[in-house]
Amino acid sequence: MYTFKDYYQNEVKLSFEDHPFSKKPKHVWVICKYKGNWLLTKHKDRGLEFPGGKVEKGEAALEAAIREVMEETGGTIEHINYVGQYIVAGKGGTIIKNVYFAEIAGLMEQRTYYETEGPVVLEAIPDDVRVNEQYSFIMKDGVLTRSMEYIDKNY
Ligand code: GTP
Repeated sequence: MYTFKDYYQNEVKLSFEDHPFSKKPKHVWVICKYKGNWLLTKHKDRGLEFPGGKVEKGEAALEAAIREVMEETGGTIEHINYVGQYIVAGKGGTIIKNVYFAEIAGLMEQRTYYETEGPVVLEAIPDDVRVNEQYSFIMKDGVLTRSMEYIDKNY
């Protein structure tokens, strides 16, 4: 288990165990690889980030992950695996999010990308991501760095 502060100084706990904080998390985040590159989305307010969002009523977290990737990038999933889970103790309450790693088979152009501007394909996440204003705050803490390390080692 890793404990650290996020961009807003909220406490985050991240674990690569099997659903340590909740069996039914309400949020998902999907680290996507597409043809050897990273696939992100550009959120209209937050900036560049891996796709993700809220689990809807009656939906399983994995289903939400697949749906969010499609809605925000148009990406179709070839493989998707659970990576870990994190909990953020924020001012407005606590959120629990599953992290997945997905390999994307293709990109289907969408009529809308919801609250994002759609897919952004990058060869690399820049070293200065934590201070780079183009990137979303959700890319600016140990969840990204530790998850990338985990994916590097395990996939
Ligand atoms: P909407 O309900 O979609 O308008 O957004 P919201 O910001 O009210 O809700 P959400 O439940 O997604 O997030 C609540 C708060 O939790 C955010 O303002 C952040 O402080 C925090 N949070 C959400 N997702 C993450 C994340 O991936 N990483 C970190 N560090 N904090 C997050």
